[in-house]
Amino acid sequence: MKKKKLLIYPILIISLLLVPVLLSAQDIILPAPVKSGGKPLMDALNERQSLREYTSDNLSLQQLSNLLWAGWGINRLADMKRTAPSARNLQEIDVYVALKSGLYLYDAQAGKLKQINNRDIRKLTGTQDFVGDAPVNLVYVADMIKRDKKEGDEISDNDLLMSYANSGFISQNIYLYCASEGLGSVVRGLVPRDQLAPEMGLRSNQVIILAQTVGVPVK
Ligand SMILES: Cc1cc2nc3c(=O)[nH]c(=O)nc-3n(C[C@H](O)[C@H](O)[C@H](O)COP(=O)(O)O)c2cc1C
Repeated sequence: MKKKKLLIYPILIISLLLVPVLLSAQDIILPAPVKSGGKPLMDALNERQSLREYTSDNLSLQQLSNLLWAGWGINRLADMKRTAPSARNLQEIDVYVALKSGLYLYDAQAGKLKQINNRDIRKLTGTQDFVGDAPVNLVYVADMIKRDKKEGDEISDNDLLMSYANSGFISQNIYLYCASEGLGSVVRGLVPRDQLAPEMGLRSNQVIILAQTVGVPVK
């Protein structure tokens, strides 16, 4: 009996220590994206623009889900193909989502944001003032493992060229969703990549391509 009690205490202590660790991994389950409606394409094109003044209002979870689906969601489940094209269908771009509550990775198949950390790194995704206050900053990261680049391998200009092009399509989808939804957005090449990559916990074969801010525009 005494032995059993002695065993229970360390188990209890270890479990209590693990609670914050388990709780910190707070993935966000996204509602299913609404794949119909919105403004007619020509209206959305007519209203697409870059905006750099945002309120601190958050997007709803439904807006976030729709935004990410429009940008890089799966629109042909049978083939696992997406709303944006990618060279050789490598789909090497990962969309990271920096929110006040932390950094997340968009998992289009599972329909969730997988939490990477619980730190607010929005400000670090850019060098411009509005970046840190806008509710959503997307970071487009090319996972060069999909191009058979191992850690430490050299990444060629050609690899980067394709990833820049692939990110451009995602970015334009995001712009068009924002125009349709009355949200504001700006794609950004001004990203402090050397500082941001370690904050995001990226491997050397993951390359930050572009970032994109999304938020509610100041009227
Ligand atoms: C590849 C790329 C990088 C850009 N980088 C930035 C940036 O770092 N910061 C910024 O405020 N705007 C950036 N922009 C937005 C452009 O400044 C903007 O598209 C341009 O002024 C035209 O305005 P419009 O998007 O409203 O048509 C970038 C656009 C592209 C396509």
